[in-house]
Amino acid sequence: MAARAVAAPLIDAGFPQLKSRIIERTGHFYYQDKDDLLWERVRKRLRATGLPDSTRYLTLLDDAISGPAEWGRLEAEITIGETFFFRYAEQFTALRDTILPEIIARKSATRRLRIWSAGCSTGAEAFSLSILVNEILGKSLEDWRIVILGTDINDSFLKAARQAQFGKWALRSMPPQERERYFIGIDKDRWQVRPEFRSIVRFERHNLLSLLDGTSPLELTEFDLILCRNVLIYFHPDTVVELVGALRDRLTEDGWMLLGHAEPNPTFSTMMQVVNLPGTVAYRHGSGAATTPAPPVSQLPALPPPEWKPFLPPPKPAEPVKAKRQAPPSAPTLPKAPSASDEPDALLEEIRARADAGDFAAADGLCRKALAEQPLDARLHFYRGLVLRELRRPGESEKSFLNSLYLDKSFAMAHYHLGLLLLADGRSGSGRRSLTNAARIAATMPGDRQLDEADGLTAKDLRDLVRAHLAADTPARRGG
Ligand SMILES: C[S@@+](CC[C@H](N)C(=O)[O-])C[C@H]1O[C@@H](n2cnc3c(N)ncnc32)[C@H](O)[C@@H]1O
Repeated sequence: MAARAVAAPLIDAGFPQLKSRIIERTGHFYYQDKDDLLWERVRKRLRATGLPDSTRYLTLLDDAISGPAEWGRLEAEITIGETFFFRYAEQFTALRDTILPEIIARKSATRRLRIWSAGCSTGAEAFSLSILVNEILGKSLEDWRIVILGTDINDSFLKAARQAQFGKWALRSMPPQERERYFIGIDKDRWQVRPEFRSIVRFERHNLLSLLDGTSPLELTEFDLILCRNVLIYFHPDTVVELVGALRDRLTEDGWMLLGHAEPNPTFSTMMQVVNLPGTVAYRHGSGAATTPAPPVSQLPALPPPEWKPFLPPPKPAEPVKAKRQAPPSAPTLPKAPSASDEPDALLEEIRARADAGDFAAADGLCRKALAEQPLDARLHFYRGLVLRELRRPGESEKSFLNSLYLDKSFAMAHYHLGLLLLADGRSGSGRRSLTNAARIAATMPGDRQLDEADGLTAKDLRDLVRAHLAADTPARRGG
């Protein structure tokens, strides 16, 4: 008898109702047109609970005793937590040079500072803020009452945040000297945030949607600064506007807000003051519709001398959203590759998040799935190359980097990682050539331009890194 083809798993009849309950509770409108992706996650919970279908699972979620814990596990399954230190360097430059000095100067009488990282994932954003505050205040930090609160809906992210340990992937673009300064090495591949940067940070569970139905804790208020970055991308546009309004109401009168770098929305400028800062925009509590230039630094009271050499690029000329890489001139006959502003961004977040969590097999699965739909996305091939390298499949990793470069030969980071892979494989000639290509592309850009898919690495940083690798690749090292 001929073998029967195995049917793809069918989404069951109760799924639409379950899906709308999930979206209603978490705000994740992102899943509205992604049944397959959501179903895959729900199925994990069906397997774990031993329940046969969505309808029975909904009954469990509605159970007064076991329901809340199961909601927590489901929320942990469906949320995407990509994050890393000093993500979007322009915003951290703005925080270091303008926003935090302004707040600190204004609050110097009460010496009380309250900061909220809303949707904090595993905590890199909150710890980055703590590092900045520590470096700016220096010894006088002891005289201040400071709270940096990180909140998230995902309990497992919060647990990781409290441990404050981060892997190689999350810190992949941080120069070693910065890593030494802010972290203690735990083993070859893991680092823990130093205690002095942890003491003013705390993490709590909080669903942002509770800001809209009046169930949010009242003490979440009077913040001098709120960061809510790369969270709102998952919500319905109407919910986004409501949430931004609710967050604004939790600011002090002159408080500041930073939203995701790529999430500008004209409505926000009717709700708050827009402050243009180099390479980014910030918002301030106010009647709205006003656009203000940044307060001149010279008008701010003097702060401790900047002994600190931060891992942040100098400010760039104003440019609200980071410039995207151009399509390669060498591929005119190919259909237009999806731009970075297209939908795969959320998917890339997820791929990076899986890799951050060390789940490279899952990251690879997501890459393959995404590539089946978007075979011409150079970034997806690039990330697959990185992930395959971590999975110790160098041949396939090389192929992925080459695919990426075929689609976009100006992709500096793909040349760079291909070069490192080839050097590690003992192919010095071609490895050096790839690294040199990366440096050449970087040389065509201003030194402070951040490179795509490089987590804040600038063109100058890349040229320096290439130089260091080429210098280290001596015949003696190669065994020649
Ligand atoms: C992509 S991460 C962003 C982390 C960090 N803000 C950053 O930019 O690096 C998005 C985070 O938002 C959290 N999140 C999603 N929906 C949420 C909700 N309804 N309430 C609170 N947090 C939520 C997710 O769990 C995830 O950790």
